[in-house]
Amino acid sequence: MKVIITKDYESMSEKAYEEVRAVIAENPAAVLGLATGTTPLGLYRRMADDCGRGGISYKKIRTVNLDEYAGLGADSDQSYVYFMRKNLFDHLDILPENTFIANGKAEDLEAECARYNALLEGMRQDIQVLGIGSNGHIAFNEPGTPFSSTVHVVDLAESTIRDNARLFAREEDVPRKAITMGLKNIMRAKKILILANGANKARAVCGLVKGEVTEAVPASVLQLHPDCTLICDRDAAAMI
Ligand code: F6R
Repeated sequence: MKVIITKDYESMSEKAYEEVRAVIAENPAAVLGLATGTTPLGLYRRMADDCGRGGISYKKIRTVNLDEYAGLGADSDQSYVYFMRKNLFDHLDILPENTFIANGKAEDLEAECARYNALLEGMRQDIQVLGIGSNGHIAFNEPGTPFSSTVHVVDLAESTIRDNARLFAREEDVPRKAITMGLKNIMRAKKILILANGANKARAVCGLVKGEVTEAVPASVLQLHPDCTLICDRDAAAMI
């Protein structure tokens, strides 16, 4: 794994943007795997600003998102589809029909997992952007998730519910279930870019980079990927 340590969040985001820009420069019809959460916001701001200034075009780009809360859809401002539109897609020249995310409001969540999994099989990510949970999760693959997992419904860990409660009015409002890409779907990406900032990620980053490769720390599977880059700030790198 290539590790880049930056002085702060903004330089982490700048480096991440350089990586994404290089992938699109090489293939203007690339498939981008995207994450939600606070970590990639600086990257998304740079993508939006540059496209708005007439820089990179996303007209041929397709995107796939990692995950979505069960029960939430575009009409909820807590949903990940809403997050992606507000923070990225609405500011790009991307075609809405080229942005893919699991439907959290599907009546049959298992059928939705199968549909999304089949879609991913036909759309290998040229680059997959990831954040990391303080418990070492990637997407919503919580500790103990098999490395062989594909798209599935997950019961969110208590620590994830607590971490994400800051984005909801009350902790009780955080959905208890989500649909997530599995670890196998993530590992299929040609290139992986994992971002981390802040001291609360230091332990997870240590497990990611130099811990044992174990299902107890889902991010540790990335040590087995042939083209994975971690970009993190000094605080997140404190234990490596
Ligand atoms: C988001 C996702 C999660 C986050 C992780 C870190 O789509 O899949 O794994 O990347 O929980 O979240 P933040 O960036 O908010 O610290």
